Amino acid sequence: MNLKEMLKLADEIVFAKTGQHLDDLQEAVLRGTLQRETYKQIAKNFDCSESSVRKVGAELWEILSAELGEEVSKSNVCSVIHRFKGYNNVSNFAQNKIAIANFNICGEATQQPDLPNSHRPNEETVNKKQPETLHHDLSEMPELGVFYSRTRELDTLTTWMVQQRCRLIALTGICGIGKTSLAVQLVQQIKDDFEYVIWRTIDASHRLEEFQHELIQFFLQSEKLDSSATNRKHLPLIKYLQKYRCLIILDDVHHLFCSGELAGKYKPEHEEYRSFLKQIEKLSHQSCFLLIGWEQPRELTQITCENSPIQTLQLMGLDVESTVQIFKDDGLREIDHYSMLIQGYQGNPFWLKSVANIIQDLGISIPDLLQNDTLFLAEDLKDVLEQQLSRLSAQENVVMSLLAKEIEPINLVNLAENSEVMLSNLFNVIQSLLRRCLIQQEGSFYFLQPVLREYIRTKL
Ligand SMILES: Nc1ncnc2c1ncn2[C@@H]1O[C@H](COP(=O)(O)OP(=O)(O)OP(=O)(O)O)[C@@H](O)[C@H]1O
Ligand SMILES: [Mg+2]
Repeated sequence: MNLKEMLKLADEIVFAKTGQHLDDLQEAVLRGTLQRETYKQIAKNFDCSESSVRKVGAELWEILSAELGEEVSKSNVCSVIHRFKGYNNVSNFAQNKIAIANFNICGEATQQPDLPNSHRPNEETVNKKQPETLHHDLSEMPELGVFYSRTRELDTLTTWMVQQRCRLIALTGICGIGKTSLAVQLVQQIKDDFEYVIWRTIDASHRLEEFQHELIQFFLQSEKLDSSATNRKHLPLIKYLQKYRCLIILDDVHHLFCSGELAGKYKPEHEEYRSFLKQIEKLSHQSCFLLIGWEQPRELTQITCENSPIQTLQLMGLDVESTVQIFKDDGLREIDHYSMLIQGYQGNPFWLKSVANIIQDLGISIPDLLQNDTLFLAEDLKDVLEQQLSRLSAQENVVMSLLAKEIEPINLVNLAENSEVMLSNLFNVIQSLLRRCLIQQEGSFYFLQPVLREYIRTKL
């Protein structure tokens, strides 16, 4: 669902409640909120006071809460609208009202008069129609903002998970490319194909033992609810993955791996993951693990055949249409100059938003920002790049510096000559950088994308 569709749906909901369409300020508040802007930013863009924006925001959330029958606030409006659209999937809100009133809760179609707003079933109520064996723990899953395109990637992942029943899928890509957002969108689309869906975001303190324990508790708890059995014994996690169809998403898996080494080497405290994921990969079960991050385990081969139960998706930039949409959403109106940004920032939504923000904040033009063909790198962009690049090994840093100096793609022999890295080591280094999605490849030639080249040059 794109920004325009979300605004249209919100407008229909407000109209159904108040008999009036969104006015300009209400729309600006909603638009800004859906784009994760602060009230302060929204006020600045609309050229009004922050207190007016807050007031209009509060009124708007109240109208939406009353009409949708659940608490709506600035922090959850995006997902509430997504869910609302998700379960109704009817574009016209007036029709939706009828659909909701006729909703079949108990298995028999009940023709009810239009329900008062406070009694209209929200998604929680609607979920009751699903079999009681659906158990979702998505408390760590981030909320999805405006989301464009990615149809091909969503289709591929859905095929792997639902049709091919893959056991282990790696979703990888450079920082900010949209891995987490894609996974959230995917989960929203396919979660009902699984009995259990669990999202965990890994941080430095994460331990496999605790994670397994937590999951087993989750299974035990829900088994008790389902069967009222009191004396269930603990089974190893794999038994539950065999018994139930589970989707388990682990985001930011790069925290499992060492900094200063080639990609995907487990930290000593996370070595246990090696045999755990081997089990997930090799043993027969009906569940699927989705690993998301800048790095993936070394053992996970990147080259897989079509029907393999193990797959890897390297996420690339958004298509031009979505990129243009992001610029428009962020208020950039200089259509003639979009191509300069599209080329430079390679469809990376975080990078695109970062540059669009600075153009907006400073009130300058795109050509002003990109003077002398130099790419502008905002501080937030530099920060995320630094986080990812600080993980590189010494030899990877040497190769990245060399590539940053080259204008044209360069082959391995020339790289070996210039870098003083032995050719045999260079193979591993290049493979590692490819797996991190930090270098681009054309046949046997390698090069950096413009943002990375610019960033590394400024550091040299
Ligand atoms: N398809 C999309 N359409 C519009 N915006 C998107 C899309 N995908 C991602 N974004 C936006 O880009 C930004 C980065 O997305 P996200 O956090 O998903 O990237 P990531 O690859 O998970 O980043 P990291 O590597 O830092 O975890 C977010 O602001 C997100 O809302
Ligand atoms: Mg992420």
